[in-house]
Amino acid sequence: MSWALGKVILNGPLEKLPLDLSFPGWDGRVFLEIGFGDGGFLAYLASKESRAAVVGMEVCQWCATKAARRVLRLGLDNVRILRGDARYLIGFCFKRSSLDGVILNFPCPWPKKRHTERRVTSPRFAGLLSEYLKPKGVFSLATDVEWYAMATMEFFEAMEGFSVVQYEVNPVRGFLTKYERKWKAQGRDTYLVEVRYEGGAQEHIPVEDACPYVEEDFDMEVAWQQVSREVEIYDLVGTLRDRKGGKEGHMFVFRDIFRGGDGVILVSAITVDDGFEQHFYIRFYPKGNGYGVKLDPVGHPYRTPAVRMAIKEAAGVLRVEL
Ligand SMILES: C[S@@+](CC[C@H](N)C(=O)[O-])C[C@H]1O[C@@H](n2cnc3c(N)ncnc32)[C@H](O)[C@@H]1O
Repeated sequence: MSWALGKVILNGPLEKLPLDLSFPGWDGRVFLEIGFGDGGFLAYLASKESRAAVVGMEVCQWCATKAARRVLRLGLDNVRILRGDARYLIGFCFKRSSLDGVILNFPCPWPKKRHTERRVTSPRFAGLLSEYLKPKGVFSLATDVEWYAMATMEFFEAMEGFSVVQYEVNPVRGFLTKYERKWKAQGRDTYLVEVRYEGGAQEHIPVEDACPYVEEDFDMEVAWQQVSREVEIYDLVGTLRDRKGGKEGHMFVFRDIFRGGDGVILVSAITVDDGFEQHFYIRFYPKGNGYGVKLDPVGHPYRTPAVRMAIKEAAGVLRVEL
C-alpha cells in the first residue's frame, strides 16, 4: 500500500503551484485542515463532503503517512496532504480566495508571550485567512483551552471583515479527534469558535502580514558557464562555504560542499524567508565543455525569494550574469 501514498501526499515544490485540486465530480469547494494529527477528522470531513477537495497540512511526517494510509484504506479520492508548516504552505499552495473552510482542531495555544505570533489571534494569521478564504468562507477553531477560545472570539469580533458566527461549549460535531477524546476522558470542556470571512479585510491588514511569496517561472537550471579545469571549478565553488547573504527577511547561508567522482559538486544551503526555513543543495555539474548550476532535485525547496538569491549568489562564482 505504501507505494500509493504518493497519490495522497503531495510534494509541494514539485507540484505546479497553486495546486490544481480538481477531480471528477468536484463541486469547486476546498476545505483545509491544519495540523490534522492522525487524520481522523480529515477522513471524516472528506467522506462527509465527498464532492469537495479536502487538503490537510501537517508538520509531522509520521502523522502525514498515517493519515494517508487511512485515506487510502477508506478509498477517499478527494484528499490531498502536504507536509510542512501551514503558516507558509497556505501561501504557496492555494489560489487567493479559494478556500471554503479552514479547520484547526486542538492546536497548541502557545501560552508563552514570546509565542503570541503563532496563535490564530496574530494579525498575520488573520491576514492569511483574508487572502485565502472565499468571502463567506469559515475558519473554525476547536480547543480545550477556554481563554484561547475567548481570545479568538474577541480578536475576530474586533477585526474588520470577519464576524463570529458560532461559539459553543462542548459541541457535538459528528467526530471526536484524538486530542478531543483525550481531553474528554480527563473531564475537560471543549470549545468551538467559528468565524466567517465577510470579505474586504485586506485593506485593514498590512500587506506584509498577508505575505504569500511563492515565485512562479523559477527555472531549476539557472546558469551555464564554460570553465576550463575541474580543479578550478572546485576552488571557485569552495569560496561559497559559510557565505551569507540576503535582505529584508529573506536570508541564505551556504554550508558544506561535497565533491562527487563524476565532477558534480553539491553545496548545502539554508534559506529563511520570514521564519520559513528550507534546507537543500545547489548542484554544479559538468555540461558540454563547461559547468551548469541548478537546484539539486533531491532537496526540492519552494521557490522563495531567499532560494532565488542563494542560487544567484552560487551562480555568481562562475561569473554568470542572470
Ligand atoms: C495537539 S495536535 C492535534 C492533532 C489533531 N488535530 C487532533 O485534534 O487530534 C497538533 C498537531 O498540529 C501539528 N502542527 C503544529 N503546528 C503546525 C503547523 N504550523 N502546520 C501544520 N501542522 C502543525 C502538530 O504536528 C500536531 O500533529
